[in-house]
Amino acid sequence: MTIRLGDVVPDFEAETTEGPIRFHEWLGSSWGVLFSHPKNFTPVCTTELGQVARLKPEFDRRNVKVIGLSVDPLDAHAKWSGDIAETQGYAPNFPLIADPDRKVSDLYDMIHPNASDTMTVRSVFIVGPDKKLKLSLTYPASAGRNFDEILRVIDSLQLTATHSVATPANWKNGDDVIIVPSVSDEAAKEKFPEGWKTLKPYLRVVPQPGK
Ligand code: BEZ
Repeated sequence: MTIRLGDVVPDFEAETTEGPIRFHEWLGSSWGVLFSHPKNFTPVCTTELGQVARLKPEFDRRNVKVIGLSVDPLDAHAKWSGDIAETQGYAPNFPLIADPDRKVSDLYDMIHPNASDTMTVRSVFIVGPDKKLKLSLTYPASAGRNFDEILRVIDSLQLTATHSVATPANWKNGDDVIIVPSVSDEAAKEKFPEGWKTLKPYLRVVPQPGK
């Protein structure tokens, strides 16, 4: 199933390392990050799970719940956690879905048969509190993801959701932002009473709201 930006993401029930969940109910009113791992006991995945565990307080601070998925069974997840703690210094502190029958992987189109019939690709789905897909990305098994980038883009998505601004290329939290084109100058005067810089009528730059 193709899930596109703005779609309500599919709900599912699954076994996880923190007990059974129903995805939408588990998300509650939080943002969510669902990310897949090709296979347990593999090197890149081991580093990624350690990094997400290290960054968990940053996800919490942004009201984002993180959940991993692998097509391996639950008992393999438990054994692997020990290796992750030993080698990365952080044990997974978020649920990992066990998806041996590939129910969730198929629902979210995480298996790309021309890459591999058996393993998932490295998918990331960022879901808003309205359960709609805000961003997805797909990496091959060989390339570990940059979870600082995931946090950066969550900051951008959350700013857009609350302040009618977009973020420019290579934006970092605290940098100036852009007033979205759908906001007229008239409306912008109310939203940004301190003013903005007009580089072009369509390129209006304003300090990051709330900073
Ligand atoms: C890894 O996590 O290292 C990995 C997994 C599947 C294929 C290649 C690498």
